[in-house]
Amino acid sequence: MAEGARRIKSVEDSIRDTEEPEHRLKKNLSGLDLAVFGVGVIIGTGIFVLTGVVARENSGPAVAVSFVIAGVVCGLAAVCYAEFASTVPVAGSAYTFSYATMGELLAWIIGWDLVLELALGAATVAVGWSGYLNQLLGDLGIPLPEAIAGETARFNIPAIVIVLLMTAVLVLGIKLSSRVTSVIVVIKVAIVLLVIALGLFYVQADNYTPFVPPAEPAPPGASGWDAPLVQTMFGFSPGVFGWGGVIAGASIVFFAFIGFDIVATAAEETKDPSKDLPRGIIGSLVVCTLLYVAVSLVVVGMQPYSELSTEAPLAEAFSSVGLSFVSSLISVGALAGLTSVVMILMLGQSRVLFAMSRDHLLPPGLAQVHPRYGTPYKITIATGIAVAVLAAVVPLEELALLVNIGTLFAFVLVSLGVIVLRRTRPDLHRSFRVPLMPVLPIVSALACLWLMLNLPGETWLRFAIWMAIGFVVYFAYGRRHSRLAGAEGEAAAVRLAADREARRGPR
Ligand code: ALA
Repeated sequence: MAEGARRIKSVEDSIRDTEEPEHRLKKNLSGLDLAVFGVGVIIGTGIFVLTGVVARENSGPAVAVSFVIAGVVCGLAAVCYAEFASTVPVAGSAYTFSYATMGELLAWIIGWDLVLELALGAATVAVGWSGYLNQLLGDLGIPLPEAIAGETARFNIPAIVIVLLMTAVLVLGIKLSSRVTSVIVVIKVAIVLLVIALGLFYVQADNYTPFVPPAEPAPPGASGWDAPLVQTMFGFSPGVFGWGGVIAGASIVFFAFIGFDIVATAAEETKDPSKDLPRGIIGSLVVCTLLYVAVSLVVVGMQPYSELSTEAPLAEAFSSVGLSFVSSLISVGALAGLTSVVMILMLGQSRVLFAMSRDHLLPPGLAQVHPRYGTPYKITIATGIAVAVLAAVVPLEELALLVNIGTLFAFVLVSLGVIVLRRTRPDLHRSFRVPLMPVLPIVSALACLWLMLNLPGETWLRFAIWMAIGFVVYFAYGRRHSRLAGAEGEAAAVRLAADREARRGPR
């Protein structure tokens, strides 16, 4: 175990790998492309679905405060991601950063953990997509049978179709993917702005009181496992609403922000990563936070929170005030919006797996780049098939919170990693630097941990099982096949030592 922890891949080696001809990705993306990518993946199920769920079950009208809390936590992590991504502009995001700072074992753990955020996240959103499609088809009078479409399907055909279609776009090239995203982003931002502008006319001040509904005991049937872990740990009886509910709500609407970190996974395909990455990451996050707060305030103002829909709250709020045509328009916007989320989550997943197989922690043949399209096509296709299978058969509603816990865990490690890299490699050029070192990254790690503790005990159990499987896979395969094992590893260790010596300079 200690050996895996000691294997550190130097930043220089990581960058050198990106220059190998068979592993070279096209550098096509600008800062604006990245910000559009960010918005393309951030706005999705979270705002279109979770606003209603969290307002009804956790926060009441204060769901907007839950969004602010989650947005601030993500903002802290985003600043850490920005420093890392501008220093180590290599595909793989948190995985690559950890390899450069905390060693191979932790890097593997993070890579394994990111599957929860990316592949599982993509599958979850694909199922949501199928739900919106069926709702729209229902409006048109041609709904598909529930067994094969919608959120509760036993074999979800539309979810498979959307996943495979997006896989094809990803294989054909990152520039095409980014063009598709731009069109979708314009549609979904327009719909969100429409909700805000039109909804404002239907807001009733009464609906804002009480803004934070008083805490209540949990509904009968809720067990300790359903309660936030922090309540179980400290022996509070499970409860909903009140400020505890607002924070638990923040740990759920956190899902709505997932994706800004994926901008960092596209680092290697960026023209000028040191400037474009911080702009892309922070810019997209700020835009989305403002939109979320505005939308949630409008929606809880339009309808009493206890009457909001938990499936399509935005669309239903407009139906409730007699504007059914707006409601259909929102469904179309949601459908378009979720399409790009599925695509970019899979893009992130394929780039992380690409980096892992380039390091031979996964079979190296998978890392081959397509000679014409310049994309890691094998790994993209493998990712697409896995996500399609997951989306088709797994009851994802149960697993959606796993996506949050997995992502928050990655944020904790990235925040701590920034401090480690400042200590171990103060010499590296950082075009973006985290302010208030080391306070900000420490606060970021603690805030993410706090949101993790507000997730149900059941989610923690599933998370622990997934990570335990990851350990077994590492010791059965990755540790022995790693590029840093054997002769190549010795050469890398020699280079690392020589680099360190050179930096220390003559004494
Ligand atoms: N942030 C993305 C969404 O809300 C994952 O769908």
